[in-house]
Amino acid sequence: MKRTIRELVNLKGKVVLLRVDFNVPLDEGGKILDATRIKNELPTIRYLISKGAKVVILSHLGRPDGYDVRKSLWPISIYLSRVLPCSVSFSSTVLGEETRERIKMLKDGNVLLLENVRFYKQEEECDMKFAREIASMGDIFVNDAFGTAHRKHATTYGLGRLMPNAIGFLMEKELNNLNKILEEPKRPFVVVLGGAKVETKIKILERFVEKADTILIGGAMAYTFLKALGRDVGLSKVQDDYLEVAQNILEKAKELGKKILLPIDHVCLKGRDPHPVEVTTLKGDLVGYDIGSRTIRYFARELDKAGEIFWNGPLGMYENANFRIGTRSIAEIIAESKAHKSAGGGDTIAMINLFNLGKKFDYLSTGGGATLEYLEEGSLPAIEVIQEKIY
Ligand code: 3PG
Repeated sequence: MKRTIRELVNLKGKVVLLRVDFNVPLDEGGKILDATRIKNELPTIRYLISKGAKVVILSHLGRPDGYDVRKSLWPISIYLSRVLPCSVSFSSTVLGEETRERIKMLKDGNVLLLENVRFYKQEEECDMKFAREIASMGDIFVNDAFGTAHRKHATTYGLGRLMPNAIGFLMEKELNNLNKILEEPKRPFVVVLGGAKVETKIKILERFVEKADTILIGGAMAYTFLKALGRDVGLSKVQDDYLEVAQNILEKAKELGKKILLPIDHVCLKGRDPHPVEVTTLKGDLVGYDIGSRTIRYFARELDKAGEIFWNGPLGMYENANFRIGTRSIAEIIAESKAHKSAGGGDTIAMINLFNLGKKFDYLSTGGGATLEYLEEGSLPAIEVIQEKIY
């Protein structure tokens, strides 16, 4: 297990460089549309200020190409100053005189938020000179940016290599939860996987074929699997390059005695007709966009028996209300299940929030790509460089 902030002693007066993931959606006027990621970070910040540390927060926001006022962290400093019991200041740069001066002026137990680290191209290049300059401004590095831990960037991986370090409470919680799913899932362990692109789910499928008992596949990628089994899928979206991969995964599941369930009916459109229809066989010019009602019941039977459920990816084109029922129904069935239930992935969490079901899940991972990569690999670059806990 990695060293956590609980093991750090004598924090009073120390400059803690805290890397977080405040990559939250903002509207054109800088209004925070979903503050979940910031709220999840508050326990770590509160702990560090309660110990008298000078907390200097670093984060990225979006994928800007140089300075972009719409990606400024300034609105987040306003939010923090409203919810934290200390003074919160903001520096419009990461490096330079302004930041050094503000750190010098920072009192014990107060917070300074620095501007978006991705305004500097050196961040994503993992430029170690840039990382060294940032490291020289602090005493200790705390990485709590789980959502960005799969990125080998200057303020994630680079600072971890250069400074005495630890993980924060959010990172600790994410690792504990994901490790539990990987190492000691309750049985039967049912995984629900959706989404459009097979290539983004191959590794996780390979991993879960070994770890899970049953995998339920929906979303556009289900058509590639159905075609791999020789079924007619009409004009539904199929990734022909991945038919062999799909076949291999289906065969591996069979060898290991694991179940992979695919949709048995579909909500689709016929040609240019805008009205959706439900069919059991996709043929001719039919295009499938959602799972049908028989599939919902078929999947529900497995979910009702589950001891553990992990969900990632929409089961249909849920952005369109005509094709949302499958995803919504499965979300509700999981939410009502007695199993230990968790979900991960940016779109999946957005859907669960759209359906107002967040509170019914035991655990919602704050990561998108990071969660999937951790489940695939069992580790992430920015976590590997953190010191191990000494017992
Ligand atoms: C996320 O939202 O998944 C993280 O903040 C990482 O963002 P990135 O994909 O732009 O690196």
